[in-house]
Amino acid sequence: MNKLYYGDNLEVLKESIEDESIDLIYIDPPFNSKRAYNVLFESIDMTDAKAQKQAFADTWSNVIYIDEMNMIQDLDLDLYRFLKTLDSLRISKGAVSYLTIMAHRIWYMHKKLKPTGSFYLHCDPTMSHYLKIVCDLIFKEKNFKNELVWHYRRWSNVAKIYQRMHDIIFFYTKSKDYNYNRQYQPYSHPEWIEETVRGVVDGKLQRLKDKDGKYIKREKENIGVPLHDVWNDINFIGPTSQERLGYPTQKPVNLLERIINISSNEGDLVADFFCGCGTTVISAQKLNRKWIGVDISHLAIRLIYERILKPFEESDEKYIEIVSNIDINGFPKDVASAKDLAQKTHRGRLKFQDWIVEIMMNGVANPKRTADGGYDGYITFNKSEKEKDVILIEVKSGKCGVTMLRSFITTVQHEKTSFGAFVCFKENVTKEMELLAKQQGYYNPALWVNKYDRIQIITVEDLLQGRSVSYPVYQNITFKNATRISMEKEDNSNSLFD
Ligand SMILES: C[S@@+](CC[C@H](N)C(=O)[O-])C[C@H]1O[C@@H](n2cnc3c(N)ncnc32)[C@H](O)[C@@H]1O
Repeated sequence: MNKLYYGDNLEVLKESIEDESIDLIYIDPPFNSKRAYNVLFESIDMTDAKAQKQAFADTWSNVIYIDEMNMIQDLDLDLYRFLKTLDSLRISKGAVSYLTIMAHRIWYMHKKLKPTGSFYLHCDPTMSHYLKIVCDLIFKEKNFKNELVWHYRRWSNVAKIYQRMHDIIFFYTKSKDYNYNRQYQPYSHPEWIEETVRGVVDGKLQRLKDKDGKYIKREKENIGVPLHDVWNDINFIGPTSQERLGYPTQKPVNLLERIINISSNEGDLVADFFCGCGTTVISAQKLNRKWIGVDISHLAIRLIYERILKPFEESDEKYIEIVSNIDINGFPKDVASAKDLAQKTHRGRLKFQDWIVEIMMNGVANPKRTADGGYDGYITFNKSEKEKDVILIEVKSGKCGVTMLRSFITTVQHEKTSFGAFVCFKENVTKEMELLAKQQGYYNPALWVNKYDRIQIITVEDLLQGRSVSYPVYQNITFKNATRISMEKEDNSNSLFD
């Protein structure tokens, strides 16, 4: 099974991944360039940005880094000494905290790699020099293979410094036996070859002359020169790029395909523990590798799921095969764990309401939600090619009854939306509530033959079994039934990341 995990990668690494099981790890953690403790917020630009910021603040906070440093002491004394020394120097606490959190995770990633495995760490020049020492300690200096420079062009207008136009990618292996499928790049001056024709074939220098004594070109030489460590042939994902999903730190598929092709083979296991909108996962899937993706943002996990299925129709065999091969972890899977989340929701990173609205119903959480009243989220759908309509969602995590349903109906009327979905646990639903919902009548716009209840009571149990609110679907359907939401810029009704 391919696996997606919602959660802190440290927990996932410790608890859910077998030692020495992965062939290739690529990570692209949030950069530290935004400084202070909000280092990670730059990677997030989502509708519920506030909640996301909180999630990061919890994980990457000042306090937790001290705990993590102490945990490193038990794992690797040298690593601990290095971090402790930095902590005692004139280096910002932001940098030390960032490095501690990274070091802890990279230590576990090394443990999870097969002895023949490879590791790629994508970072920027503000942290790369420190991270290299961390990796040298964990992987050993002799297993450092390359510092790759990904040079791109993008619009940037920073005064008084040279424009930053590259990222750094460190390449380490776990041992001297590793997979490297050599790739070639074109000659920078093909015209020279005609004259010199010095083909490096299988490591041997060969000089060949034709009958007039001139050097001739051999077939094999056309493959070019072995790939350099400066990559300038892969474009940055700019604001107008076709590939762009709106996830601010999205990396190009070409970049990941190159790494995966070189450092793994078909059937190998590829993992990304900071997977964002899933570029590694998508590329691994395309190249027939098995994969693991982890992210601390539940929206990222949802987006990846959608992204992976997007090229296929629901009826395609491939679609069914992919869906049945993805295991999504970290969200409640049964009533007991849903109740557990409902109870802990005031403390946890993931809120019960957000899980229901954004993961189970594929909607958008209401950013203006208040504790008493309002609604928790909404789903936008196309009722015809041009017209959109909205379903309001209200989620009750605890006890509820007809009074709450009545007040939600008032909100739906007040907001002038056509539909309302009232979500609660099954044990709360009474005959009186069902009657009140029925009395609100049907929705059937001219185009559609079917009638749909305007107010629908959906139980958490229904959602867990794949049933959700029913409404006329022109194009998209709900997450559980596998989504076909367009992530294009123009259609931002359902896009989370604009
Ligand atoms: C720079 S982005 C990765 C972008 C990705 N390479 C792509 O192409 O979409 C970093 C990601 O790390 C995630 N993240 C931050 N801290 C994390 C943690 N402790 N565990 C798992 N994911 C984390 C963030 O949610 C963010 O999506």
